[in-house]
Amino acid sequence: MLKRFAAAALGGLLLAGGLAGCGGEEPSGGPSGGAPDKIVMGFSQVGAESGWRTANTQSIKDAAAEAGVELKFEDAQQKQENQIRAIRGFISQGVDIIAFSPVVESGWDAVLGEAKAANIPVILTDRAVDSADTSLYKVFIGSDFVKEGEKAGEWVNTEFASAAAPVNIVVLEGTTGSAPANDRKEGFNKVVTDPKFKTIASQTGEFTRAKGKEVMEAFLQAHKDIDLLYAHNDDMGLGAIEAIEAAGKKPGTDIKIVTVDAVKDGMQALVDGKINFIVECSPLLGPQLMDLAKKVLAGETVPQRVVTIETTFNQQQAKDALPSRKY
Ligand code: AHR
Repeated sequence: MLKRFAAAALGGLLLAGGLAGCGGEEPSGGPSGGAPDKIVMGFSQVGAESGWRTANTQSIKDAAAEAGVELKFEDAQQKQENQIRAIRGFISQGVDIIAFSPVVESGWDAVLGEAKAANIPVILTDRAVDSADTSLYKVFIGSDFVKEGEKAGEWVNTEFASAAAPVNIVVLEGTTGSAPANDRKEGFNKVVTDPKFKTIASQTGEFTRAKGKEVMEAFLQAHKDIDLLYAHNDDMGLGAIEAIEAAGKKPGTDIKIVTVDAVKDGMQALVDGKINFIVECSPLLGPQLMDLAKKVLAGETVPQRVVTIETTFNQQQAKDALPSRKY
């Protein structure tokens, strides 16, 4: 870590000279003398709310071990205050680099400013922040959630192309204020524009199976004529399936279902005909994160945004992919 502090001074000089600053296509604020012998990374995870998150945590832990990175891992239990506390802890411990998946988009400027002042580079994984000052982090690696919402919406447009009005939609949103909830809603609404589509209920299911079930039960009690469920992740969709079956209806037939993630349980439900379409969101970010951390600390140029490449699945594609699915 000593190397980092020496290099941090140089980083400060470069900054004063206007040569460094944001992640961008400029040199990162890492040490000029290369990465530390043993990188210490503080990682603040959102929580353990979903199958996706479990796979993401495993990917990061495995990749750290593989890359010889010492990982200080903190689980924030879906609370921003816990993440801010963890990041402050990493700063006071003098880790080499901080990575985190922000539970919500807003409210990070102060703590990210503290990391910057301590010359500790930050990498955002999975979820973005809405900070106007992009020099507060070096790189953001993760999915294009708006695109995911658009893909879900495009499937809806095709599936209901010949359906008569109204097509009644209910939405299980992700965690309120989170990037995937905001963006998946935006992307979907951008393409599902035909006036025959009516969103009759939309509420957060907090990305969990239990809450997805609970909210879907309430939707079913309030509305007898639901045509489509758009769930912002598989877990909420799987919880909703339980509620739909308990209400005596057939998920995937009486109520069409489109979800996001493509974790194994979701893919199995798609194979079983209980989900109709899944937009993939890959949690396997660990190897890229470790690679980028090494580059940042070595002072190499890194892009400000690394977008994960993803696909979509219908039933046949899920059948083909499931046997070799890693998460
Ligand atoms: O940020 C990614 C989202 O968070 C996943 O789609 C969801 O399952 C998780 O909880």
